[in-house]
Amino acid sequence: MSKKVTQLVFSISVALGLSSTSAFAATDAFPSLSSLGKSLFSDTNLSLSRTQSCSSCHNAEQGFIDNRDNGVESAVSLGHDGISLGNRNAPTLSYAAFSPNFTGTNANNASGGQFWDGRAASLSNQAEGPPLNAIEMGMLNKADVISRLQENTDYVAAFESYFGNTVFDDVETAYTAMADSIAAFEESDEVSPFDSKFDQALTGDYSLSNSEARGMNLFFSPASGCVRCHSTVMGQGRNQNRGNLQARGGRGAGGRGNPPFGAGRGTGLGGAGAANPSRLDNIMPRLAAAGNEVFSNFRYFNNGTPSNTSLNSFLQSVGQQSEFLATGDQGLLNNPLINRNANSRGRFKVPTLRNIAVTAPYMHNGVFKNLNTVIKFYDHQGGNQQRINNPETGTAWQAAEVPETVSRRRLGIRNAMSDTDINNLECFLRTLTDQKFEQHLPTLREGLSCS
Ligand code: HEC
Ligand code: HEC
Repeated sequence: MSKKVTQLVFSISVALGLSSTSAFAATDAFPSLSSLGKSLFSDTNLSLSRTQSCSSCHNAEQGFIDNRDNGVESAVSLGHDGISLGNRNAPTLSYAAFSPNFTGTNANNASGGQFWDGRAASLSNQAEGPPLNAIEMGMLNKADVISRLQENTDYVAAFESYFGNTVFDDVETAYTAMADSIAAFEESDEVSPFDSKFDQALTGDYSLSNSEARGMNLFFSPASGCVRCHSTVMGQGRNQNRGNLQARGGRGAGGRGNPPFGAGRGTGLGGAGAANPSRLDNIMPRLAAAGNEVFSNFRYFNNGTPSNTSLNSFLQSVGQQSEFLATGDQGLLNNPLINRNANSRGRFKVPTLRNIAVTAPYMHNGVFKNLNTVIKFYDHQGGNQQRINNPETGTAWQAAEVPETVSRRRLGIRNAMSDTDINNLECFLRTLTDQKFEQHLPTLREGLSCS
């Protein structure tokens, strides 16, 4: 039975008040494909030891990240065996659905995809991986995963209902159905609710404080340069990417077209020094009209992130990830669709900044613990000669892991940022937190006031 028909019949049975013992009990357990996906997402039975689910590393209650310590201050994830460590930080899955399918063949035209290096083309494609990954969920083959699914009669009924009675006749079909269901959950409004203070400010339901407003202006201005990479709808330059922007109810203006700030380099709002809340009148309607801002252009850059030396020494001490330790993280060059030009080394997909204040640690290797450090790091990268020390180590910033490909031009800033500018940016980034994660916002550091 097709999904539409099932849903229709389900709605009718609900409307008629039919009990859950009706022929559509399965859809009663899982009234939508995304509710089925949500259940699969947190089902530990899909891992060999029955201890690990997607949610172990993408905790749906904590910003969809791996908030376990894992013996490495949450820098990387621990597998189902309780021993194996990965080598990259688990990104939030909130708003991941807005990354378009991967396209491109080289450093300059690569765009979209899932993972830090885009090697999974789409969410559905990505969801096929973790159950079979030896150091993640560790199942030996697809048939074993499907057998685990079939232990649950509610799943069996729902799969047959959504994907047809013959769905279990073929392992590949059933496995793809599982991945599609998980992807449907990842695409749901529940995972990307657009209900942060920033979103509320756009609809007039929240008034940004002075520091939040100044931070926003600075963020969207060439003085910080952030939107050269971290904007879906306001960025500059070629390859404007609107993602899979399914224009959301009443929100998006939809369509491609010129970004509201114009395509020219260096255009945009005024200078940082001049960050002026009165300019909000200017920027807010433009942001609101532009549609869903996911704070990434989904392209690939090297922002000069250093390697995480304490993580690497730990991995070495426990005898893990030796191949990775020998080569370092190749970034985009790990993507098999990319040509072998070394220009792709050390580039990573620009991550979304939504929920950023609750998804520490930062960067592909979790090298920075605090948001404030990240912003100071950008000020240093942008050329502020005074910003010489990493506040987390108290010593000079380490060099980029791959110095050759750092996007110096895009990272450059005209004027050094003051501590107040940096605080304002931090206050603004905190407004990008979805309502349900607000409770996890770190308490304001001493000296930081966002009012
Ligand atoms: C053992 C921990 C672990 C488990 C279990 C796990 N993931 Fe992940 N996930 C990660 C890590 C680490 C990355 C980043 C890896 C990389 O970029 O190479 C990631 C990346 C992703 C991404 C890409 C997000 C982006 O913005 O690029 C998606 C989507 C995702 N995971 C979904 C899932 C789903 C769905 C499941 C369950 C079927 C799952 N993950 C299970 C650790 C995990
Ligand atoms: C040249 C493009 C570029 C510019 C300009 C840029 N970023 Fe980034 N940003 C990236 C990339 C790429 C990463 C991921 C790098 C990595 O993990 O190695 C990143 C990562 C981050 C992270 C950590 C995200 C996470 O999930 O760990 C934050 C926070 C951030 N950027 C904020 C900013 C702010 C604020 C600005 C402006 C001051 C800015 N960025 C300017 C490309 C850029």
